[in-house]
Amino acid sequence: MKDLTATVKSNKKIAENIYMITLTLPEDVGEMHGGQFVNLSTGNGANLLRRPLGVCLRDGKDVSVCYQVKGKGTAYLSTVEAGRKLQVLLPLGNWFDLDGYKNVAVVGGGVGIFPLIAAIRENCHTKNFYSYIGFRNAGAVCLLDELGKSRKLTVTTDDGSYGEKGNAVSAFIDDYPNIKVDAVIACGPPVMLGVLKKKLKEEGISVPCFVSLEERMGCGMGACLVCVCKTVSGENARVCRDGPVFEINEVQL
Ligand SMILES: Cc1cc2nc3c(=O)[nH]c(=O)nc-3n(C[C@H](O)[C@H](O)[C@H](O)COP(=O)(O)OP(=O)(O)OC[C@H]3O[C@@H](n4cnc5c(N)ncnc54)[C@H](O)[C@@H]3O)c2cc1C
Ligand code: FES
Repeated sequence: MKDLTATVKSNKKIAENIYMITLTLPEDVGEMHGGQFVNLSTGNGANLLRRPLGVCLRDGKDVSVCYQVKGKGTAYLSTVEAGRKLQVLLPLGNWFDLDGYKNVAVVGGGVGIFPLIAAIRENCHTKNFYSYIGFRNAGAVCLLDELGKSRKLTVTTDDGSYGEKGNAVSAFIDDYPNIKVDAVIACGPPVMLGVLKKKLKEEGISVPCFVSLEERMGCGMGACLVCVCKTVSGENARVCRDGPVFEINEVQL
């Protein structure tokens, strides 16, 4: 993990309210995997805390993350122009470790698709991905070329304005009898992950399912305990250090 001053290479709108920022790092940081994240300063001194964002694309010293403009920090970040310097701590957290799995279902919703894209990119030459991806509406649809590296891609929107009307979890559950997967990876809003856990249980689907969780963060590296979530045994786990990826049955959702 390194704390570096990166140069903004580009910062572009890629969908309604969604931006991709590409940072050029001053040095090689070695391996980075889908599920890991960066803690990025917004460029505005008033935002003391950095923002955790999942690594989406990596090309040598260039690292791209995608973000939805939500509050003050991401609103400011969207105004940052190429050439600006931003502090970034990376790579952080664990990742979707798919060693030993050949056929993998991908269930993603909203901004949860970005770390999943990194996992697909990293493994698509050796594994088959069956992806079920939910967007709010047609305006939010993005990065279909990356998602299209899946063997099969189903896109849903809440209002049916693009792809199938519905949501990613239902699309996956409905299609499960037609695909043979030996693992599931998922990322999305907490309510989506809760429904996924419930449905897997109801349908008797027992393949390992790895989910990436979101919590508010401080340090991003295990020291401050701002980011704890509860495990099923009632213990605290740090999302930044013990996660963000957990087996779905290990955590309370
Ligand atoms: C491991 C991880 C990976 C993430 N990856 C992505 C991604 O790839 N793309 C993306 O758009 N979003 C991602 N998020 C969520 C993203 O961090 C928040 O949307 C963002 O921090 C909001 O900042 P803000 O300044 O706009 O909001 P504000 O409400 O102004 O932020 C106030 C504080 O709350 C924190 N905060 C607010 N919402 C969240 C949230 N949902 N999760 C964590 N902290 C939050 C902020 O970091 C900040 O410290 C990720 C979160 C985590 C934990
Ligand atoms: S953010 Fe500080 S311990 Fe996780």
